[in-house]
Amino acid sequence: MAHQSALIAEDIHYYLQTQQEKDLLRFMTCGSVDDGKSTLIGRLLWDSKLIFEDQLAALEADSKRIGTQGEDIDYALLLDGLQAEREQGITIDVAYRFFSTDKRKFIVADTPGHEQYTRNMVTGASTASVAVILVDARKGVLPQTRRHSYLASLVGIRHVVLAINKMDLAGYSADVFERIKEEYESFASQLAFETITAIPVSALHGENIVTPSLHMPWYQGPTLMAYLETVEVTERLLEKPFRMPVQWVNRPNLNFRGFCGTVVSGKIRAGEEIAAPASGQVSKVARIVTMDGDLGEAVAGQSITLTLENEIDISRGDLLCAADSRPSFADQFKASVVWMHEQPLLPGRGYLLKAGAATVSAQITDLRHKININTLELQPGKTLQLNEIGVCNISTDRPICFDPYRENRGTGSFILIDRTTNATVAVGMIDFALRRATNIHWQSLDVQKQSRAEIKKQKAQILWFTGLSGSGKSTIANLVERKLHSLGKHTYVLDGDNLRHGLNRDLGFTDADRVENIRRVAEVAKLFVDAGIIVLASFISPFKSERAMARELLAEGEFREIYVDTPLEVCEERDPKGLYKKARSGQLKNFTGIDSAYEIPDNPNFVAKAAEIPAEELAEEIVQKLLEDDLAG
Ligand code: ADX
Repeated sequence: MAHQSALIAEDIHYYLQTQQEKDLLRFMTCGSVDDGKSTLIGRLLWDSKLIFEDQLAALEADSKRIGTQGEDIDYALLLDGLQAEREQGITIDVAYRFFSTDKRKFIVADTPGHEQYTRNMVTGASTASVAVILVDARKGVLPQTRRHSYLASLVGIRHVVLAINKMDLAGYSADVFERIKEEYESFASQLAFETITAIPVSALHGENIVTPSLHMPWYQGPTLMAYLETVEVTERLLEKPFRMPVQWVNRPNLNFRGFCGTVVSGKIRAGEEIAAPASGQVSKVARIVTMDGDLGEAVAGQSITLTLENEIDISRGDLLCAADSRPSFADQFKASVVWMHEQPLLPGRGYLLKAGAATVSAQITDLRHKININTLELQPGKTLQLNEIGVCNISTDRPICFDPYRENRGTGSFILIDRTTNATVAVGMIDFALRRATNIHWQSLDVQKQSRAEIKKQKAQILWFTGLSGSGKSTIANLVERKLHSLGKHTYVLDGDNLRHGLNRDLGFTDADRVENIRRVAEVAKLFVDAGIIVLASFISPFKSERAMARELLAEGEFREIYVDTPLEVCEERDPKGLYKKARSGQLKNFTGIDSAYEIPDNPNFVAKAAEIPAEELAEEIVQKLLEDDLAG
């Protein structure tokens, strides 16, 4: 490195030590290539001399060869290698760059500016304390400026630099600067920023980046670098209440039970009271154990193991917190969600929600509205597509601990994961707990599921038939029911066509409607099982996620998946209701197997090859299997 290499060579230990002691500022840059973002970052790196000698030589050569600045150095070339890669959609989602000056260390998250990269921006912004928002002095505040600002505010960035760039092309005019500054401030007043600092710069000529501009004597404020080196951004993490998600419970022997995790906020001392909100129990810290011995006090950012004075109920995923300042503990809350996946949100689908160290099953129960990120207008919507942002109600299968995101970024955020592909589909910021459902408790009844089933001499369960339309599900289910009935079993068939005449008459065949269809069916089937009945559910149920959800609603062994495996050609040939013909001719949209997906079960309990084996035989086989497994009671 140009100016630091001498020191590194001379005294590497001293160099490393000084680096370690400097504090770190994470910031992000927002803007597009046209605004001069690459040039600006290139400048910061260049002027902080954090460029390797060989890079320097290459930069000079490249600037002459392919640069846009004639004989001068094209700083944007420092970044354009990455840019090219990114535009092809490979490898780099967010480029993080490290550099340092005498005063501070920096990590800059450089995120692409276009709307289709909203998810990347949110990712880059989520750890940043400052956003540098670039505008072109000739263009002023654009829709993208508003979008970037809104996203920065959404993820909790409280300090903004409005870098008004290309002042050289705007005659270094104080009026231009003032006008853009005012327009921005009036727009940003609706966002939750604490400070907005406007700086007139020319990234290309290095004016007000590191050295003050000679052309803009009317500007008395700091250069960008001076601002970044001095801005006070301590999130007052240490002043916040103590929070530590339990990553792991360490129990090497009976005498030691330690709770391991990283302190997210606040501090803790030996002897202080802590609480586990999940159980409501309180204890005192006995020891704070680390690799380097016990500590008297631990603060945010440290990874520790806590032992407690008395045994209380704590398991992995719980949040330990200050006893006198507890987080919310709820299974319903309002949150902002940024959709990160090509596959849109399916309200009603069960996603995995990961918050801190806890993972629970969750549903978006109500999409209150979407937000137009260019105009900040609220819009109604039924789903969220990639890069869209919505405000919604979320319900989890068990309560989790959290703080509102605006109070604590560490304990107020979560991600949603698709349970079949394991892809992260969304990130969310929690607003507040919804109190409405917290006073509903399970009514305990004296007569239980098992006794209801015993009286019928059977084991209550679901036989879930899945397969294409016309595959033979209903025919086989009907035969199985007849056989079970003649054996004296109490059965009931839930059938797609039938339920869609009543309970589900409001639903069509979009993916979202099918998810909701199966969600309701699964809930109803569960009630039947609770009543002690053998339920035969016959639905296309095309998605793995919802079949898994139905399985999980029930106890172990109560759900059997029967895949009626009839090839599409055969179903189409049979076409009992003439629907395939309609679908092929375009009269019927979203028809399963034609223009709507069917996900084949991975591990069904029974595969019925209905094109090869007569339905009667298959039904007999299924019943025999039930009897063998003693599942019919
Ligand atoms: S599911 O996909 O939501 O599980 P369900 O089993 O309830 O579907 O209903 C499927 C039945 O609805 C089919 O057997 C068929 O008779 C009828 N149907 C009407 N339109 C469609 C369509 N677009 N796709 C599939 N089935 C349809």
